[in-house]
Amino acid sequence: MKVVSVVGTRPQFVKVAPVSNALRGRGIHHLIVHTGQHYDPLLSQAFFDDLAIPPPLVNLGVGSASHPVQTAAILAGVAEVLAAERPDWVLVYGDTNSALGAALAAAQLRFPSAHLEAGLRSGDRRMPEERNRVVADHLCDLLLAPSQAAVRNLGAEGLAARTVLTGDVMADALAAMRARQAADPPALPAALRDGPFLLATLHRAETTDDPQRLAAILAGLAASPLPVKLLTHPRLADRAARSGLPLEAGAVQPMGPLPYPVMIAALQASRGLVTDSGGLQKEALLLGVPCTTVRPVTEWPETLDAGWNVLVGDPAGLAAALSRPRPAGDPPQPYGDGRAADRIAARLAGQRPVTGAPA
Ligand code: UD1
Repeated sequence: MKVVSVVGTRPQFVKVAPVSNALRGRGIHHLIVHTGQHYDPLLSQAFFDDLAIPPPLVNLGVGSASHPVQTAAILAGVAEVLAAERPDWVLVYGDTNSALGAALAAAQLRFPSAHLEAGLRSGDRRMPEERNRVVADHLCDLLLAPSQAAVRNLGAEGLAARTVLTGDVMADALAAMRARQAADPPALPAALRDGPFLLATLHRAETTDDPQRLAAILAGLAASPLPVKLLTHPRLADRAARSGLPLEAGAVQPMGPLPYPVMIAALQASRGLVTDSGGLQKEALLLGVPCTTVRPVTEWPETLDAGWNVLVGDPAGLAAALSRPRPAGDPPQPYGDGRAADRIAARLAGQRPVTGAPA
């Protein structure tokens, strides 16, 4: 049994870590193909090192380009690897161009394919991620749904027969990191040790590539009563510079992206998160950190239920969202029991799955 995982971006490296462990634990031959969509060491190699992910079989080195050019390079590169390796399963992750290109390569060459993080829908078809995830779901043979809402979305599109509820592998990765950090807490950078702070990340095209919207969000952050540590993705740095928008203003203190273990520790140490990321909304919920999502919609609706996550579509609403009280009680845990990756490995191998509650 041979499984090929195709990954290429920061969140996909987090997801492949527990999957790689689970596949190895069940004696399955697992190969990782890195598309090279992310290539900065802080967005790529640091994750392989920190999460002890086995080195990829190949890095296709596609790099940055327009969506069509990047996706086409991924399609062609992945197809060549699949033709040579002839895997039993191709595993694609999430909603990036790497996921779309790999799903298309597997479909066109008729290799069985599984989509991890299937069934998420924001309903916002302007986002490349929404288009990518819809197409990947309809192309893939097996749909690995992280949540009950994802299962319902797939059913509504006629895909129930291919759907399995597994829980969320990012919850697995987070649980493993928390266990590791309980024994060996990582040091926070000095910039995060000087008093209470909010963490912020902005990288979506809908945020960064619209200068007016970006300016309004940055102004909202600048007016925050607490310092805002803005972890700067290369896309944000690039687009802000091109639009002539300084990142350092008012409460905002920009700093570079953090390695995964430090990110988790920083999130736990923060008073709250402001983000347009998908994965961080979940991580904040699971860690009990109030999150403000600067988007009109989310593909993770469970995060909204008890008020731990609030959507701010119009940046004018940021001030009110940042001063809201912390929700009472413990946050819900809708993303499974930390054993999603093993359920996925069992399903691919045709073995008995673990018992427990996938979501
Ligand atoms: C991609 C995913 C997004 C995911 C995000 C995680 C798509 C369509 N989007 O967005 O879903 O949430 O990764 O970070 O696949 N750049 C660098 N160094 C890098 C990578 C990118 O400088 O290592 C810069 C380049 O200017 C590039 C821009 O970031 O043009 C955008 O990179 P790209 O990979 O196209 O998308 P992300 O915004 O990272």
